Amino acid sequence: MGTAFPTTRRSDHRDESAFGPRQSWSSGIENRERDRGRLCSVKAAILVESLTGNTWKAAEKTADLLSQERWTITGLSKVRHPDHAAIQEADLVLIGSWVHGAFLFGQAPWAVNSISNLPAMRGKKAAAFCTFALHPGNSLDKLTSAVGDTGAYVIGGLAISRSKLDQHSEEFATRLVDALADSDA
Ligand SMILES: Cc1cc2nc3c(=O)[nH]c(=O)nc-3n(C[C@H](O)[C@H](O)[C@H](O)COP(=O)(O)O)c2cc1C
Repeated sequence: MGTAFPTTRRSDHRDESAFGPRQSWSSGIENRERDRGRLCSVKAAILVESLTGNTWKAAEKTADLLSQERWTITGLSKVRHPDHAAIQEADLVLIGSWVHGAFLFGQAPWAVNSISNLPAMRGKKAAAFCTFALHPGNSLDKLTSAVGDTGAYVIGGLAISRSKLDQHSEEFATRLVDALADSDA
């Protein structure tokens, strides 16, 4: 158990995370062992806004890792063309966007307007992620706020560097599993 997430993975961008303080890696593993049976039934829908494919790749990687943790991915679709059935079926909705701006200032998640057109998600949990090149600024906060405006309860989020897509997607998946374990404990 836990082999899907090598011990070399790192939370080296903690300042870009909106998740609460995370447990130590070892206690995370123990919690996942303890809660694995109970978490088998987590259903997650993923919605993505991607221009050149990085955010989509991060979503696919995260989905793959969550599936290895026995989560069910109800659908992966574009924020602009959401899979309504997948959202309906999900307990948790993950929403990802790429960061747009002038690289060192004016950064914002591109998906914000599309998110405002999503159906109300009251009663669901949600998490946000964005991919960026140099610096996301406060894109994650803006994204988290937009997702919260759908009525969903936002459990956290992560800014993912496009140069570390695999590593940061692993971190995102790990944090999601831990957060769900914590909230169900
Ligand atoms: C027009 C444009 C503006 C961008 N502005 C920023 C920026 O302000 N800060 C940043 O870190 N990355 C910026 N990027 C980089 C993208 O956020 C990054 O490459 C992201 O991973 C793209 O995701 P995607 O492949 O899913 O479209 C910008 C990219 C484009 C095309």
